[in-house]
Amino acid sequence: MELHLRAVDSAKSGTQCLVLGVLEGKKLLPAGKEADKASSGAIAAALRSGDLDEKAGATLLLQPVPGLGAARVLLVRLGAVSKLTRKVYAQALRAALEAVARTSAKDALLTLLDAPVRGAGPEWIARCIALESEKLDYRFTEYKSKKGRTPTLKTVNIALPAKAGRAKLKAALAQGQALAAGISVARRLGDLPPNVCNPRYLASQARALASKHDKVRVKVLGEREMSRLGMHCLLSVSNGSANEAQLIIIEYSGGKRGQAPEVLVGKGITFDTGGISLKPGAAMDEMKYDMCGAASVMGTLTACAEMDLPLNVTGVIAAAENMPSGTATRPGDIVKTMSGQTVEILNTDAEGRLVLCDALTYVERFKPAHVIDIATLTGACVVALGKVNSGLFTEDDRLADSLLKAGESALDPAWRLPLQEEYQSLLDSNFADMANIGGPHGGAITAACFLARYTRAYSWAHLDIAGVAWNSGAAKGGTGRPVGLLTEYLVNRAGKAPQ
Ligand code: BES
Ligand code: MN
Ligand code: ZN
Repeated sequence: MELHLRAVDSAKSGTQCLVLGVLEGKKLLPAGKEADKASSGAIAAALRSGDLDEKAGATLLLQPVPGLGAARVLLVRLGAVSKLTRKVYAQALRAALEAVARTSAKDALLTLLDAPVRGAGPEWIARCIALESEKLDYRFTEYKSKKGRTPTLKTVNIALPAKAGRAKLKAALAQGQALAAGISVARRLGDLPPNVCNPRYLASQARALASKHDKVRVKVLGEREMSRLGMHCLLSVSNGSANEAQLIIIEYSGGKRGQAPEVLVGKGITFDTGGISLKPGAAMDEMKYDMCGAASVMGTLTACAEMDLPLNVTGVIAAAENMPSGTATRPGDIVKTMSGQTVEILNTDAEGRLVLCDALTYVERFKPAHVIDIATLTGACVVALGKVNSGLFTEDDRLADSLLKAGESALDPAWRLPLQEEYQSLLDSNFADMANIGGPHGGAITAACFLARYTRAYSWAHLDIAGVAWNSGAAKGGTGRPVGLLTEYLVNRAGKAPQ
């Protein structure tokens, strides 16, 4: 999508679709009032007709409207000012863009920058418009012989309110576009089939990112190198697979040399059959999404690089495939982790923590400011939080606060769950330092407790994204979450948040 800021008169603009926001009652934003005047009250008359539903996000297409340069006018309800939160605004905006996209308009003029959104100014709105406009273009048709209708809407123009500062709005737009690029990288990696998107493919995509951006460097460790480092727990997961495990290290150096990096660690199980503890067959195809933690790391680093964020960020992806075979790990096997601690593997389907623990030990060498791991880790987290919130676990209250706020502002929310010492004993093993499962109680928590044992050297948080990373059913597809949350967190760390 092409995006432009335009200082135009909404009444005179020759746009193919003029989009006007309507607040509670029949109140128009300033551009709408101008257009109404020029049309001798035709817009107010349309509002009086009652054809536009009261609900926020309702739309009404008018065409043509006498006195205006625009070929069509789309009215969109923003609802009551007292209820106009960022979430309501984004939903209404999405509805408006989708309604425009259903017409044959090639361009639109949005006059929505001066909407009174609670807790957000025009910069946040500009970023939101950029993000939602770009998202409209996501299609996963690489494997379809017939690609379907190509979208006709090519250009979104954003009307600049009278007093607005262009430079800051332009930066906010660019930030939104960079974030959208990151989100679509994550969605695509998730949507790719598991026979294509295997550990080596993830490594190739990381290398492609590095070749596009000077500030990105990539290093990939294969199984031999990991074995030398003592990462036997990670390697035990890919024992049964013909695809080699990869540890992918992506360093983005946007900050000062020597500045401690923010480190992101992603679970990259490119297919999770459960291994010898085989999963039931229903919906097993969705376990191609078990690399969505890794996808969110790739997406977030893409966003950072595209927006040239002044911060050092390191992404580490633990990529492996969990398959049953004659060489697969057995329930009862004991493996040694890179940290020296031993693990009795009682269930080979609890494999995410087995790859993450070694990656979490590996990242100590970066002397991180913070480490955040992102993983489709447990079905128990989906039971607890459904598909609305990511599960957030950390003992660092300040880090929790930053991540929760980032999620709220990016409309990519997380909910904090407990991580207390009292749960740790559920991981006791008769034969090793710990078991890899904690029994039927608090499954998302015991998984986090397992990881906590490998993160004592730094400030750490864990995001369980099992419920939010993809949609099932008719709308099956990756969501790109939590790239929004992570990028917002990093943008805030760099002091670049839009107002
Ligand atoms: N990848 C799954 C978790 C998962 C399940 C994510 C369903 C999304 C939807 C993970 O590797 C897994 O299998 N976890 C087990 C852990 C159990 C064996 C302790 C689970 O949640 O059932
Ligand atoms: Mn599993
Ligand atoms: Zn898994």
